[in-house]
Amino acid sequence: MSIKKAVIIAGGSGSRLSPITNQISKQLLPVYDKPMIYYPLSIVMLLKIRQIQIVTTAESNKFFKDLLGNGKKFGIKLTYKIQKKPRGIAHALKLCKKFINKENVCVILGDNIFYGQSLIENINNSIKLFSGATIFGYFMKNPNKYGVIKLNKKNNPHKIIEKPSKFISNYAIPGLYFFDQNLLKFAKYIKPSKRNELEIVDILNQYLKLKKLNLKIFGRGLAWLDTGNAENLLTASNFIRTIEERQGIKVACLEEISLNNNWVTKKFLKRNIKSYKNSTYYQYIKTLIK
Ligand code: DAU
Repeated sequence: MSIKKAVIIAGGSGSRLSPITNQISKQLLPVYDKPMIYYPLSIVMLLKIRQIQIVTTAESNKFFKDLLGNGKKFGIKLTYKIQKKPRGIAHALKLCKKFINKENVCVILGDNIFYGQSLIENINNSIKLFSGATIFGYFMKNPNKYGVIKLNKKNNPHKIIEKPSKFISNYAIPGLYFFDQNLLKFAKYIKPSKRNELEIVDILNQYLKLKKLNLKIFGRGLAWLDTGNAENLLTASNFIRTIEERQGIKVACLEEISLNNNWVTKKFLKRNIKSYKNSTYYQYIKTLIK
């Protein structure tokens, strides 16, 4: 499956982080030294996807645009879509119909952070030969806050259940999905759940029913962090700080990725970051382009 487009879902109410999120979307909050949205955006860029639509709330739309612009500074093309009310991830996807335009699409949640060796290679290998939808499973001690995979006797996926009340398996589904052109056709038929949202798992279950759902399990060397509440947000910041301090290399430096992808030149970056103050983030880019 070749993928040229991605949607980052970055609306939602952020209620589990209130009052921090009373005025601003959680995906703009810092995770150590950069805004949260940088992390999912970096994954999309590492996958070499350049056409990206970001779904935001009406209130925070301006701030996302101020931060990331049209993407030119990262060598990508960014567009934005407003979701007025948090009516679910699948609802947010339906709003991107024109952008998706019946093409394959990568979907990533704006509050999910992935980090690990060979991550991009693994993802690329997982989607290479498959049409339909590809999702990932992640072994967790307590997966019940997430979408969870119910397996049958042969250890094949049987159903995906959103936030099950009882233990059904250790495998949670991280917020990274790949869909073929049937995505929005399936999204059309789903109904709001008990929490009054159009759920992404209801789309996944339709792919599953038609044997078109490809499940790959991430190995234990991968870090998948969700930043939806205060504790997780701090854990994620500490995690990124530990890695960056120890290695002296930044995680999710968008300018570095675009430079490595040959989407921008050193000269272009030099010109663009000239006016920035001496934050460690921009200091780092300055050393890259020296
Ligand atoms: O983190 C992975 C989990 O994300 C999956 O395992 C679940 O299946 C999936 O439903 C989702 O669960 P959460 O309850 O954690 O989703 P949350 O409400 O935190 O929203 C995830 C992202 O989507 C976040 O960036 C906010 C955004 N969002 C959410 C909703 C409900 C929107 O943009 N619009 C929305 O209407």
